Amino acid sequence: MKSPIIEVKNLTKKYGKFIALNDINLEIEKGEIFGLVGPNAAGKSTFISILTGLIKPTGGDIFVKGFSVLKNSSKIKSLLGYVPQDVALYPMLSGLDNLNFWAGIYGLKGQEKKKRINDVLSIVQLEDRARQKVDEYSGGMKRRLNIAVALIHNPEIIIMDEPVVGVDVLSKKFILDALKDLKKSGRTILITSHYINELAELCDRIALLDRGRIKMSGQVKDILKHYGTENLEEVMISVFGGYHDEG
Ligand SMILES: Nc1ncnc2c1ncn2[C@@H]1O[C@H](COP(=O)(O)OP(=O)(O)O)[C@@H](O)[C@H]1O
Ligand SMILES: [Mg+2]
Repeated sequence: MKSPIIEVKNLTKKYGKFIALNDINLEIEKGEIFGLVGPNAAGKSTFISILTGLIKPTGGDIFVKGFSVLKNSSKIKSLLGYVPQDVALYPMLSGLDNLNFWAGIYGLKGQEKKKRINDVLSIVQLEDRARQKVDEYSGGMKRRLNIAVALIHNPEIIIMDEPVVGVDVLSKKFILDALKDLKKSGRTILITSHYINELAELCDRIALLDRGRIKMSGQVKDILKHYGTENLEEVMISVFGGYHDEG
């Protein structure tokens, strides 16, 4: 029997009286690219924040390789590489020095540190620009460097919140290619998006999240079949209704 690498059980998150996540159940298999799709305010970032240990759930739990986010949050952090929606870099340092800094935080040293830095620079194709100040990078290059930072400790699972929002076309291609390569190397990838079209081809499965509830999950082709259309935009409109926003 297959056992999922990430298992979400009856997960609920309330902010005061407001229910941001309402009894979510999900299973993500090892080696797949899973897309959590929903309009703004659906609860995507809340879900990622719970998974990465930034905030605690109100009810339920998430298990990563059997470890509970409630009980083993630090173990889970070592398994995850998290790429935040906003840039978390030192602008006055070079790309290389940012990576050196984070490699140090993860306790990497000497040859191993050097090798990991070279590996991640190559994955995001920033070798040529590594010595340049981050301040001079485009938005897309900063996002790619954020991905490199998230990969520095060689995590098995990569989490990206809205990976292609605000990213130029060239960087978008680099990011999508990097995700495909990471999948090929056996990593499991979870991405969120409020706009499914450009990620649909990449994802093995998606879940549609609407106001804190999972409306449907499965392979893109099965979801299209279920809604009797070949057009994902139509699925988005029928699931998320009039307030779907391409943002
Ligand atoms: N710290 C918070 N306090 C109160 N409400 C919050 C907080 N964080 C998020 N929310 C609300 O929870 C809902 C889901 O937000 P979020 O998880 O950021 O959605 P998404 O990432 O899908 O856009 C939104 O209505 C948002 O306003
Ligand atoms: Mg969000």
